[in-house]
Amino acid sequence: MCHDCSAPVSSRRSFARFLAAGAGLTVLAACSPEAPKAAAPSSTAPSASSSPVSPSPVAATAAPITTAEAATVPPAPSPSAALPRQFSLTDPASPWLIVNKYRPLVPADYAPADLVSPAVAMTASGEASLLNSTTAAAAEAMFAAAARDGVAMVLASGYRSYATQVATYNSYVAARGQADADTASARPGYSEHQTGWAFDIADGTGACGFQPCFADQPAAVWAKANGHRFGFVVRYPWMFHPITGYYYEPWHLRYIGVEAATDMASKGIFTVEEYFGVEAAPGYL
Ligand code: DAL
Ligand code: ZN
Repeated sequence: MCHDCSAPVSSRRSFARFLAAGAGLTVLAACSPEAPKAAAPSSTAPSASSSPVSPSPVAATAAPITTAEAATVPPAPSPSAALPRQFSLTDPASPWLIVNKYRPLVPADYAPADLVSPAVAMTASGEASLLNSTTAAAAEAMFAAAARDGVAMVLASGYRSYATQVATYNSYVAARGQADADTASARPGYSEHQTGWAFDIADGTGACGFQPCFADQPAAVWAKANGHRFGFVVRYPWMFHPITGYYYEPWHLRYIGVEAATDMASKGIFTVEEYFGVEAAPGYL
């Protein structure tokens, strides 16, 4: 299945963005029904069940994003479509922080001061069971609402320290090489998981965990349709890797606040880069 293909590429504005970001025909080809299904996670890559910090196996159908191709000259920012600026885009403690391949965390070893374990069903343990306090409260509300709708949702991976991200990223590089690793795992100091503003969900059965087919599982369908009501966006949407730098991760939710997330949804904007008017970040500088 070609998840969400029609939505983003049917938008003239988003299509122009793809071309501007250098996606071109590679993206369109990958979005055809004939495009091969995403590769299954490598047998040598860490799995959700084998690692206390569940990494995100690649959800790729398009050609890998190489640093050499992607990170030459940053594309110019677009005018912000966002609400009037209320929060910093660079402070790691801000809900509007944008961290991507062009925008590392400062400091690189940032750690939230208010990490807590949300009262939600989870398969995560240790530090991965933690979120910052704002995100934790929003997650509790969202998981409860999903449950009321009969949708099972579990926290699969939350906070990751800088040191954990070093290990996670290195495991990807060892298993797949750096170019492929960079499509799925953030380098240390570049991950939203290090901020406590993001987490990965699953449905508790392991079905399609951290795989592209998770997009069709009830938990992902529900989160995509309803996450904004609780302040969440699907941070790495289908086919927007020329902007976000990562392949589709229907399991990775990011808190930006109810007002901004709802505004994004109502305006049909899929990425925080576009919404807040910052450069697309397809590769590391
Ligand atoms: N999988 C996301 C991009 C991360 O490693 O933060
Ligand atoms: Zn994630």
